[in-house]
Amino acid sequence: MSDTQTNSKGCVLVTGGAGFIGSHTVVELLEAGYQAVVVDDLSNASAVALERVAAIVGKKNAERLHFYEANLLDREALDHIFTSHAIDCVIHFAGYKAVGESVSKPIEYYHNNLGSTLALVDVMRAHECKSIIFSSSSTVYGDPDEPPVTELSPKKMVTNPYGWTKWMIEQILTDIYSSDPAWNVVLLRYFNPIGAHPSGLIGEDPKGIPNNLVPYVAQVAVGKLEAVQVFGNDYPTPDGTGVRDYIHVVDLAQGHLAALNWMHGKTGVEIFNLGTGTGSSVLEVIHAFEAAAGKPIPYVIRERRAGDIAANWCDASKAEQMLGWKARFDITDMCRDSWAWQSANPNGFEDAQ
Ligand code: UD1
Repeated sequence: MSDTQTNSKGCVLVTGGAGFIGSHTVVELLEAGYQAVVVDDLSNASAVALERVAAIVGKKNAERLHFYEANLLDREALDHIFTSHAIDCVIHFAGYKAVGESVSKPIEYYHNNLGSTLALVDVMRAHECKSIIFSSSSTVYGDPDEPPVTELSPKKMVTNPYGWTKWMIEQILTDIYSSDPAWNVVLLRYFNPIGAHPSGLIGEDPKGIPNNLVPYVAQVAVGKLEAVQVFGNDYPTPDGTGVRDYIHVVDLAQGHLAALNWMHGKTGVEIFNLGTGTGSSVLEVIHAFEAAAGKPIPYVIRERRAGDIAANWCDASKAEQMLGWKARFDITDMCRDSWAWQSANPNGFEDAQ
């Protein structure tokens, strides 16, 4: 059935929709009555995630889910998707995202993340679709002078090509709007997304040894890794360990929905921080996870990780005022849901394949 034959609120193309944040956002879109067209090349995601999304939302809602396995650099495939669906808006998650890897593979990162975004906006323009929500990151604030950061805080130098691709794509989309005021661009700067859908059916499934704190802690808790490496305890923070604004992925997904509903019928470029507005230290996260898992989590203090900053959290009041969105879950909820996912799926989606 084509989109025009079904009653839905609108049709959203979700690039990278099988990934961690993408899959949670697709759940929210379907539950809210949207058509969700997912394009994902599955290079760092599993089709099982979308089967699970369908199970979460139920048969009726899942009828509005469409999946294309394709790379965004494949213009023909993209063109076919836009021809097959009356897409109103794009939520653009797809991209390489491993910070360390980006330092050793800058050509691949710039080529993939920038090239695919350029192909996407070019095909969007050809199909008169000019609304886009971009998955940006707090990384664009670099090492902020004094948290909390607001959307007016300056963008600064970042320390790795992954972060630069976020920085540059924000600029590219802003320039596109300057050239054609019919565009409608929303840049969402995520803080540190963790947690999982409360069903325990979908969650973060990093390949190899996790780079980010919570997936690492989760794998220690489930017995796959021995001990958490705490990267530095001599930062100018209350307990000496790094402080971040962790946000539950379901809150984050709902932030996308709030942005989508808000931007309807508008034009312009608007930036929103999506975080809770409070920071937690590495040790606080470890202790919250211990409570969630009901077991001690061994950790060792190591030297600082190159490129890390002491503390960053956001002022999330703009999103609350303009989008009517506010994070509902705290660090206890985030660890509970991460644990539910990790303990039920110790090897991520691999177990189901
Ligand atoms: C990282 C990226 C950021 C990206 C974000 C996605 C870097 C420098 N930045 O942010 O660009 O947008 O992930 O969520 O990688 N930590 C440990 N032990 C670990 C892992 C992390 O102590 O094994 C500490 C870090 O030093 C930091 C905190 O935990 O203080 C959070 O680290 P992480 O989860 O990697 O996120 P960020 O570094 O904030």
